[in-house]
Amino acid sequence: MDIRMLKVGEQPPWHLLLLADPSKDLVSRYLDKGLCYVIESEHGVTIGVILLVPVSNHTIEIMNLAVDEFHQGKGLGTTLLKHGIQTAAKKGYKTVEIGTGNSSINQLVLYQKVGFRITGIYHDFFIRNYEEPIFENGIQCRDMIRLSMPLSEEQKAQAPRSAPTSAARQKTPRPVAGGSSTSCARRADR
Ligand SMILES: CC(C)(COP(=O)(O)OP(=O)(O)OC[C@H]1O[C@@H](n2cnc3c(N)ncnc32)[C@H](O)[C@@H]1OP(=O)(O)O)[C@@H](O)C(=O)NCCC(=O)NCCS
Repeated sequence: MDIRMLKVGEQPPWHLLLLADPSKDLVSRYLDKGLCYVIESEHGVTIGVILLVPVSNHTIEIMNLAVDEFHQGKGLGTTLLKHGIQTAAKKGYKTVEIGTGNSSINQLVLYQKVGFRITGIYHDFFIRNYEEPIFENGIQCRDMIRLSMPLSEEQKAQAPRSAPTSAARQKTPRPVAGGSSTSCARRADR
């Protein structure tokens, strides 16, 4: 299956984007700023999406990742993630970041399997930024877990090897309510 960039003027795969982030308003705000790649079935149907948004000259964030429910569990999410990471490296970014909810257990497994490491927590992010409460795996999605992957040798050498000190924890940036960092809230599962 091919992964290709969404063409200029092409309708974004909303049904997939909203699987990963239930807020159409928030998705609309980052969609135009990003690089959107889609994966198609052999029949030309879009069944997966990944959206990368530059957050600085050095860092790019995976703001949305989704695979059609019928096609989940077949490795497409991993393929899209690796494609996103390779794209970021080719474009010269030094770090890739991603955020997900405390309740998104499978996603946390997936991201760590491809090499992301947890770097911080935005407490109450999903309480502050989403109108409806989100529940998943029987727990409320409240906090955003931030993960990061170094791409350059320099960044890899600086990657944390042990738990951060309390001073370092206090420096974890907190997003402004309604701010740009919104990645990967998961649709409510009840
Ligand atoms: C998250 C998502 C993109 C993963 O896509 P996928 O194609 O199903 O992922 P893969 O098949 O590559 O699975 C990769 C790993 O994820 C984990 N995983 C994914 N779905 C899982 C599930 N339902 N149960 C347990 N583990 C799961 C497994 O560790 C799996 O690795 P393994 O196959 O070696 O066991 C997909 O489930 C999805 O679109 N979910 C809804 C939207 C979403 O939550 N997006 C992310 C927002 S942060």
